[in-house]
Amino acid sequence: MKIAAVYGFLRKESTYNTASLLLESLKSKTECEISEFFLPKDMPNFCVGCFSCIINSEEKCPHYEALQPIVKVLDEADVIILASPVYVFDVSGQMKAFLDHFGYRWMLHRPSSAMFSKIGVAISTTAGSGQKRTNQTMAKSLSYWGVRKIFSYGKAVRASNWKGVSPETKEVIKNDMEKLSQKIISEYGKTRKNPKIKTRLMFHLFRKLNGKDAWNKADKEYWKAQGWLDSKRPWN
Ligand SMILES: Cc1cc2nc3c(=O)[nH]c(=O)nc-3n(C[C@H](O)[C@H](O)[C@H](O)COP(=O)(O)O)c2cc1C
Repeated sequence: MKIAAVYGFLRKESTYNTASLLLESLKSKTECEISEFFLPKDMPNFCVGCFSCIINSEEKCPHYEALQPIVKVLDEADVIILASPVYVFDVSGQMKAFLDHFGYRWMLHRPSSAMFSKIGVAISTTAGSGQKRTNQTMAKSLSYWGVRKIFSYGKAVRASNWKGVSPETKEVIKNDMEKLSQKIISEYGKTRKNPKIKTRLMFHLFRKLNGKDAWNKADKEYWKAQGWLDSKRPWN
């Protein structure tokens, strides 16, 4: 199982340890090839809003060189993990800056067909609350990229670092990660990997928008080249 983990932090504390427990549990069940990216170290840039990726090509993004190695690993992964601590009730700034760079990949524009068979996982930890919203932010991107099945896990750890997390809470997280890894393995083993109805509906709406009166030539040409304006679908 190829796993790509993108971390919206540099410090290896509660969020990192939670994600690590999941990775450990997955490793105990199947052979895993894991690639990890830490933000902002591995992608330090903010989106500058130039629209180049959307209107021209992702290669025209001023941060293409930093982004491309990560994009390649994401495309090759079976499982994509996005993990962020809760900062003021949402993802960390570096995670948001990272996700902004994938605007061109939102389903309306130029989603990669590779995404439609993948499993996504959103993980967050918080002192008290905000984990739901934080996971929604990451899960929303995964969903609009086309990711087939998305799991979310958020935990209020009542601490500012891993050392401060109580042994009881650590035990709960460990058990939860064990259960989550079982779900991921079972999803990974499925032979039928059809997308959800919601994904199909979104795809058909965006197919219409990329038809006759499409506003963005680059998107329309991409959809045409994929055969999606005809009968081909990214999940077939
Ligand atoms: C800038 C900042 C903002 C935070 N905002 C919230 C918040 O809105 N709600 C909350 O309950 N905890 C908040 N926290 C606490 C962290 O979410 C919590 O300690 C989390 O487990 C930290 O993850 P880490 O140990 O992986 O860094 C914030 C912490 C920081 C540094």
